[in-house]
Amino acid sequence: MNMKKFITFEGGECSGKTTIIAHVCKKLEELNIEYITTREPGGIRIAEDIRNIILDINNTDMTSECEALLYAASRMQHLSQRVIPAINDGKIVLCDRFLDSSIAYQGYARGLGIDKVLRANAFALDYLPGLTIFIDVLPEVALKRLSGRDKSDRLDLEAEDFHRRVYEGYQEVVKMYPERVVRIDGNNSLERVTEDCVNAVLKYLGL
Ligand code: TMP
Repeated sequence: MNMKKFITFEGGECSGKTTIIAHVCKKLEELNIEYITTREPGGIRIAEDIRNIILDINNTDMTSECEALLYAASRMQHLSQRVIPAINDGKIVLCDRFLDSSIAYQGYARGLGIDKVLRANAFALDYLPGLTIFIDVLPEVALKRLSGRDKSDRLDLEAEDFHRRVYEGYQEVVKMYPERVVRIDGNNSLERVTEDCVNAVLKYLGL
């Protein structure tokens, strides 16, 4: 299966992904290019249900293994119900998070180990994105932004140290997949970061 049209966006908390994806959409619309947007965990009913379980602030007793497997389960359902059908229809798929989030958050920050996470996600590994935009925001900048925001879910509520490890985990992701992952400096103004991301997507698509 050709996954060239599958584009993912990655980064820690408060990296501006939502705004950035909205701007990429606007650009694709101007160019009359068909696309869908979606997110992980979620994007379809079953995966949104799994998301609610994972992020429920009452689930403080969830093991890291359970968390990793729930993300992997939601990923497979989402791929088969949303991503693959859209690609078969010739559309570009813009997805907020994918496997790299599991590598950074569960593999690295939770300490499960990257290999274990890749094994848990083995079903999904046939479907790596063609392009991943990684918005690289230094942990101190992200934590400052996070402190001004409502911490609404179980992962937002993690200690600062967890978010620093997520950052380190993403640096591993960049090293693991240099041909797929484009790093964008996310410490600049949101306007500048957005412009850089839009340009990276257009360049990748040859537009
Ligand atoms: P969001 O806030 O960007 O929608 O993502 C939901 C949370 O889930 C966020 O804290 C990152 C986390 N996450 C993982 O820990 N592992 C994963 O595989 C994915 C997709 C998300």
